[in-house]
Amino acid sequence: MAVAAILAGPADFGGWRQAARGLVAAGLRPEQVEWRVAGDAPGLFGDAPAPPPPAEPGRFTVPRAFMGLAEIAIRHSDPERFALLYGLLWRIHEGEAALMQVSTDPAVARLEAMAKAVRRDAHKMHAFLRFRQVETEAGTRHIAWFEPDHHIEEAEADFFVRRFASLRWTIVTPRRTVGWDGENLSFGPGGSRADVPPDDAVEPLWRAYYAAIFNPARLKPNAMRAEMPRKYWRNMPETFEIPRLLAEAPQRVREMVARGGAAPNPQPQRPIHVPAQPSSVQPIAAPRVEAAMDLLDASKDPALALADLRQELLGRNDLPDWTTRATQPVFGEGPVGAPLLFVGEQPGDEEDIQGRPFVGPAGRLFNRAMEAAGLPRDTAYVTNAVKHFKFTPTGKRRLHQSPDAGDITYYRPFLLREVGLVAPKLVVALGASALQALTGKKLPVMKTRGTTVTALEGHPVFATVHPSYLLRIPDQDGQAREFSRFVEDLKAAGQQAA
Ligand code: URA
Repeated sequence: MAVAAILAGPADFGGWRQAARGLVAAGLRPEQVEWRVAGDAPGLFGDAPAPPPPAEPGRFTVPRAFMGLAEIAIRHSDPERFALLYGLLWRIHEGEAALMQVSTDPAVARLEAMAKAVRRDAHKMHAFLRFRQVETEAGTRHIAWFEPDHHIEEAEADFFVRRFASLRWTIVTPRRTVGWDGENLSFGPGGSRADVPPDDAVEPLWRAYYAAIFNPARLKPNAMRAEMPRKYWRNMPETFEIPRLLAEAPQRVREMVARGGAAPNPQPQRPIHVPAQPSSVQPIAAPRVEAAMDLLDASKDPALALADLRQELLGRNDLPDWTTRATQPVFGEGPVGAPLLFVGEQPGDEEDIQGRPFVGPAGRLFNRAMEAAGLPRDTAYVTNAVKHFKFTPTGKRRLHQSPDAGDITYYRPFLLREVGLVAPKLVVALGASALQALTGKKLPVMKTRGTTVTALEGHPVFATVHPSYLLRIPDQDGQAREFSRFVEDLKAAGQQAA
């Protein structure tokens, strides 16, 4: 017997799972099943009957590793994806319980590659989608055109809701339209680029900003093309500047070399305030290798170089896989040249949504301690070792997950360059992850706190506890005692940097 399993949409994971359960229970082998999406023309099996209803749940357990990957891979545009998933499920059911650990198996490798491609596509959508502002009779609306490679529109809609919750927006893709009116999400058929107005008032600002952060000495057109495929360029206002900047680059580099390494910068239309560096501060030598390019560009003001660094992270296509779940990278904030630079572990739930470091419960406690130590927070630069929120989704809550050594190593160049550009007098490590990121060693925080150790790059790092350690102390007396010790540490760091 052959059956045709018809899914409601191209990424209908619920429908696939239900059909697959019924098929397995009825003993239907992969070659007996034709998978289709509603509206597709019938294939080889013509009008074959639908699969039997799903079996009782719990008849056989499917490894979580498989379901997790399958849920992502089903969004891939490969027409074979449903059959590939069912083929794997069938083999697991037939006794290959550890199949998902065999990454050399061609079908497993294909599933992993598909999930990876889908995650990359989502990452590109997060990074390269640009809204244009339009005035309609019903008020202001933001509209974006985007061409994903895979069926990711519905899965990624939540990301844009969280990020642009207060705007009314529409994302148009060739296959789908996603709308948000401030309260409800809606999905409709796809559209075309012509549905999205070509220009708006925000664009000149973007263009000026991009021109300001463009560094001719770092010009690598091939890398630019690899990271930002051409099809996205047309949607991004800043890329209108690229041809002119490319044309001017050789001359700008020649001028830069003639002036001993200083690149001229076009003036941004929007002034960016760069506070003067306090004269008592001896800047830390910038981290060597990665920062060499930042230094080469000596005339670029550090605030713009920090913005450039952020762009660089946004454009990376080798970010750890879990970062696709985060809303956005969270960079440091505070004045360039601040005497003290604080490094935390990673953004938490509130930081991830607001895009700012230390604004959640740990941040509020940190602010109180800084105030008690006589160090107003806005005089310090505050950042994190890891720039994305790592968490385990559990129902509605997002449970903090500690970064591992690989995560810390991945973000280290960004942290070290950030330190080099801010050039503080003293870096303060808040907790174990920060200490590990800065020193490259797993030092015991409790034994190291209150002392100054040497970072990988040779600069001084003052160690203390992470504010969330104080939040975890159960009794009030203990909390008060530890709060005072933390304030003492901050005062000691402040004196060292004075
Ligand atoms: N914890 C951190 O380490 N960093 C933040 O930004 C917030 C909480």
